[in-house]
Amino acid sequence: MASRLPPAREGRSNVHGYLLYWKSIGDPGPRGTVVMLHGGPGATHEYLLPFADLAHEGYRVVFYDQLGCGRSELARSPDEYSIDRDVEDLQALRAALGLDRFHLIGSSYGGLLAIAYTLAHPEPVKTLVSVSGLADVPLAVREMQRLKRELPAPIPAVLDRYEATGEYQHPEYLAAVQEFYRRHLCRLTDWPPDLRYSFEHLSLPKYGTMNGPNEFTIQGTIRDYDATARLHEIRAPTLVTVGHYDEVTPTVARSIQEHIPGSELVEFPESSHVAFWEERAHYFEVLRAFLARHP
Ligand code: ALA
Repeated sequence: MASRLPPAREGRSNVHGYLLYWKSIGDPGPRGTVVMLHGGPGATHEYLLPFADLAHEGYRVVFYDQLGCGRSELARSPDEYSIDRDVEDLQALRAALGLDRFHLIGSSYGGLLAIAYTLAHPEPVKTLVSVSGLADVPLAVREMQRLKRELPAPIPAVLDRYEATGEYQHPEYLAAVQEFYRRHLCRLTDWPPDLRYSFEHLSLPKYGTMNGPNEFTIQGTIRDYDATARLHEIRAPTLVTVGHYDEVTPTVARSIQEHIPGSELVEFPESSHVAFWEERAHYFEVLRAFLARHP
């Protein structure tokens, strides 16, 4: 469906002393509000814009750039970048925008954040959707290392060589990283401009602090995070989605779904980390049906 989207409003709100950029599409109607959490940590909201299509169905869709990301302000110190801070920023943004209850959808690190937020503040969360998200970072890292070893020769050896010397910006290393990304991050031959934008505008202060030099080298502060033991506390109806070739693998998705009572898991067979681009029509069929089952 290519018809025009309902009108958007955008602004920047003061959240814990920093201006955070947000964009809201559609009117709050009977279907309610969807809040979107981007990944990275350090990406921007643009790569999630396909979810704006939910505004055609009567949802208001709210996107924002997390602290240090996109059109939001950088933190004065990298120490301010943390999962807890992102959780409390969402809670403060909720107050600033006057949001009551909402459907919470998070992609990748945004899925981790959605889970962390739901554990800290269950009341506002009507439904929870983890889009290629993770709750157990050490498991996700082990799985990424397995995917890396399974790349065709000589890519694993090239990656190992530069990782041993810490030359993460070497052109040969970066070319090998792209081989991983085109199999496990986005399998489309031409990456959509919104996806490119979010990667080209990755916040290095935040990504470097919390994630690491690239997607499969998570050495930053999230590396030991594991919420698995608390997932059973989640009461919101939950949908976990994953791509068959996802860098955050189906094993990671299952480790979430198995621990959240009554949750559903859907694997997209032709996709990696951005099924909502790679199998867009199928993805939104599944998502709309889930949301409609939990009005
Ligand atoms: N780096 C992963 C993401 O895309 C975790 O958020």
